Amino acid sequence: MSDPRPIGVFDSGVGGLTVLAEIRDRLPYEHTIYFGDTARVPYGVRDLAEVRWFAYEIIRYLVSLNVKLVVIACNTATAAALMTAQRSFDVPIIGVIEPGARAAVLETRNRRVGVLATPATVESGAYAKAISYLDAGIEVYEQAAPEFVPLIERGITSGPELEAAARRYLAPLQERGADVVILGCTHYPLISETINRILGPRVRLISSAGQTALEVGRVLSRRGYLRRPRHAEDLGSSVYVCTADPEEFAALGSRFLDQKIEAVLPAS
Ligand code: SIN
Repeated sequence: MSDPRPIGVFDSGVGGLTVLAEIRDRLPYEHTIYFGDTARVPYGVRDLAEVRWFAYEIIRYLVSLNVKLVVIACNTATAAALMTAQRSFDVPIIGVIEPGARAAVLETRNRRVGVLATPATVESGAYAKAISYLDAGIEVYEQAAPEFVPLIERGITSGPELEAAARRYLAPLQERGADVVILGCTHYPLISETINRILGPRVRLISSAGQTALEVGRVLSRRGYLRRPRHAEDLGSSVYVCTADPEEFAALGSRFLDQKIEAVLPAS
């Protein structure tokens, strides 16, 4: 049995491409549709109810394109919508918070975990809940980083402005002695070099992208939804859709994916 339907992946902007890249790496035969809601980014400073509304709209759109699974490649939208969306739609839906929380629980030695995330994700307490569910008693320190997503969506991934913001956001986590810091927003792996340098080698950074891709593979395999082409060269294709300027998305996305995005369709 081979299931040729695509996997739908969405984010507020280009950050979810970090998750898409891992999915393509681990599941190269799968077709994918990536949806970036670039007209409404950032999500992380909005009300959770509003983000839930956006997420439902996008999931409905992806379902109309016959996707076999949806990945909410955005922490804010995962915090806002994952649990209710899983009950509302028939298609399997995977978020990015639980996989990151699980990796952090396995990684911490001193049982102090820092979380860097958007204000909405911090306000939701989703990481603290997920970690305590996996291993109650681990201390979780959550830090909102509202300036990161707007900087990254402008293509700024290094330099003095980013450095100053990063130092400000990371200082409280350093003071608490966290030995693991979760990048609780799919945009943040794009600035991990700066974060890593400030935190130093003794602090492990966790990005949920790889763990999420593994989970996608497990769900597809369990349900018999994997695409199994006849020829090994028959790799999956990727389609990109965004809600703002497609050319801007293609330029920034190509830089972040390290691969040319040929065509981006406007969302209809
Ligand atoms: C945002 O749009 O503010 C960030 C998305 C995320 O939380 O991953």
